[in-house]
Amino acid sequence: MQEEVIEMLKPRQNGVYIDATVGPGGHSEEILEHIGPAGVLIGIDRDDEALKMAEKRLSDRRVVLKRGSFADMESMIHAEGISSVDGVLFDLGLSMLQLKSPDKGFSFASDGRLDMRMDRRQKLSAWDVVNRYPEKEIERILREFGEERLSRKIARAITTHRQKKSIDTCSELSALVEGVYGGRGRFHPATRTFQALRIEVNRELDQLRAGLEATSRLLKSNGRLCVISYHSLEDRIVKHFMAESSRKGLFRVITKKPLVPSTEEIRSNPSSRSAKLRSAEKI
Ligand SMILES: C[S@@+](CC[C@H](N)C(=O)[O-])C[C@H]1O[C@@H](n2cnc3c(N)ncnc32)[C@H](O)[C@@H]1O
Repeated sequence: MQEEVIEMLKPRQNGVYIDATVGPGGHSEEILEHIGPAGVLIGIDRDDEALKMAEKRLSDRRVVLKRGSFADMESMIHAEGISSVDGVLFDLGLSMLQLKSPDKGFSFASDGRLDMRMDRRQKLSAWDVVNRYPEKEIERILREFGEERLSRKIARAITTHRQKKSIDTCSELSALVEGVYGGRGRFHPATRTFQALRIEVNRELDQLRAGLEATSRLLKSNGRLCVISYHSLEDRIVKHFMAESSRKGLFRVITKKPLVPSTEEIRSNPSSRSAKLRSAEKI
């Protein structure tokens, strides 16, 4: 949704922009095309490998890359001597790089260890959640973060299995969930379980709320906020934040309905099918 992002973010000459999820740098590269020689782009990511790729792709004196969570963007920006910005972009979730990398342990198809940490400095991994959390807690996570209707059965299957042997790999866990479902449908039955674990391990929803709150203090008047989300839990938080901020007179909502990718984009990049772009302007 490159074009839609630029249309909504409206990057201006010599403006200061935050790409809160710089990843391999695709959107940042496009923003740099629009901010002129004195513009500044601060790219944030929790994943050091993503930052290494961004560093190569965006070797440009206008770019500052920061490792950490966008929940802490205010302190990162202040450390650069910047107090306000013209726009903030969030492109949530995971990059293809992360999803495809077996040692990151995000994909239910991989034989990699259950990990799912975006920031490898963090201690808690998906292995700990699956092998150490109480059954009730696993059930809650699957229900709340995965909207999984078989949360109780899956939590029971996990805790029964781990009494005999720990669940170490992504494929072991996905086979276990498939067993609970008794087969596969159009989507792999472990999709929701993996989403739930990822959200728990990376505290994704709390981080998103904190990141959005930070933008209301950092954006200049007329500055733009753009958020691309990939599942209903994220989108609900973004929608609620924008509606509340508009009620308080802090933001004006630009996208009454979220923008979604075109049929051609979904055809060429199927993982974009659930993307929703929302945008608001600081008053
Ligand atoms: C969908 S990718 C971004 C792709 C990027 N926009 C591009 O065009 O190349 C999402 C990125 O956000 C990062 N991320 C997710 N949650 C984060 C958080 N709370 N703080 C910082 N980075 C985060 C992930 O590590 C991942 O690299």
